[in-house]
Amino acid sequence: MNVVVIGAQWGDEGKGKVVDYLGNESQYIVRFSGGANAGHTIVNNGVQYALHLVPSGILHPNNTVYLGAAMVIDPEALFNELAMLKEHNINWEGRVFISDRAHLVLPRYRELDIQRDSMRKRPIGTTGRGIGITYALKSERDSIRLADLTWKEKMDDLEDADRAFLEPYLDRLLSMKVNLTTELWNARGKKILFEGAQGALLDLDLGTYPYVSSGFSSAAGAAIGGCIGPRAIDKVLGVFKAYSTRVGNGPMPTEFNADSQSELYNFVRDTGREYGVTTGRPRRCGYLDLVALRYACRSNSIDTLALTHLDVYDTLDTVEACIAYNIDGTIVEEFPASIEDLNKATPILKTFKGWNTSLKECRSYDDLPAEAREYVDFIELYTGTRIGIISVGFDRNDTFVRENIWK
Ligand code: IMP
Ligand code: MG
Repeated sequence: MNVVVIGAQWGDEGKGKVVDYLGNESQYIVRFSGGANAGHTIVNNGVQYALHLVPSGILHPNNTVYLGAAMVIDPEALFNELAMLKEHNINWEGRVFISDRAHLVLPRYRELDIQRDSMRKRPIGTTGRGIGITYALKSERDSIRLADLTWKEKMDDLEDADRAFLEPYLDRLLSMKVNLTTELWNARGKKILFEGAQGALLDLDLGTYPYVSSGFSSAAGAAIGGCIGPRAIDKVLGVFKAYSTRVGNGPMPTEFNADSQSELYNFVRDTGREYGVTTGRPRRCGYLDLVALRYACRSNSIDTLALTHLDVYDTLDTVEACIAYNIDGTIVEEFPASIEDLNKATPILKTFKGWNTSLKECRSYDDLPAEAREYVDFIELYTGTRIGIISVGFDRNDTFVRENIWK
């Protein structure tokens, strides 16, 4: 049985927390895309971990974790992260492996990434981790993979500075190298989690191009990055927040108005701790966008949704969600590809009664106040997708399931 976990919005939905939660039962976790641009926060026993490259399930000693083929890996960032885990007494040795097909990020790509974005007429707002440069070189067939580190001619072609950078990491990287197809073929029948990075709307093809990241953050990416093929995927879980956030530039039809709604804006950002894990940038915040969420469900074959951050709305008298866009006077319910249309779109909102009580102690759907259940039920109805996991706080335990995800 394997389950793919993706973000169903613009990233930062709480995937790390959901993977960490499900990791209790899994044996293998495969991160399938992106690089150190991602940031996953997990709070365990009061300790907060910020992970960028290592799959979130590493905190469970029973899991072996893999960095997949469609990832781009900055060795310096990876070994810093592993050292941080070691400091917290998380024993990772012998449990972290890397696909021999994964590409490597070299240090000078970070600067190039920032330079390139600042030269754009309409900058994307890159995290500056060299991700876009690496994926571009990969498409141009000029990047270097883990498997290439033992290819003498290829190594000789490298610039001196790049070779000098890689040198101290070679032995450690090669000791973690695996053929992921073989590993996961041998693991079939076990519980395998595929962990995405970013979100469906930041996917290179399905997202709000060009305001996207450069990898495959959609569910299909798990088939490629996991080296297993699409029919080996059993279930897709899409994680979303009770509201929307976005980091960087690009359209966001439901963003709160920073002037006329500054109170709500600041409230959601502060209550939800909506500051980037990787860059510290304040995240843009807005209403839950059901038009975008339903598109994510349909374009990623999401079987089950996981709703996080529901508790952020605990003290509001009313809660609103976007059920359609008004674009030049036309009511639109299908998520447009046109950036101009998305920029012009004004949200048509449905208003719900707030629950005005703390959800933190809720451990089942029935524990939720009627008003919160109404919000949950409507999202299911609109998207046609069941909400199987609900999270009501930051800690690992502030989560409950409504169905066994592993069935
Ligand atoms: P890049 O992937 O660093 O080039 O960033 C491209 C766009 O994706 C920027 O708008 C980033 O803010 C956004 N982005 C990249 N990774 C993440 C993430 O993990 N969470 C949220 N946004 C991200
Ligand atoms: Mg994040």
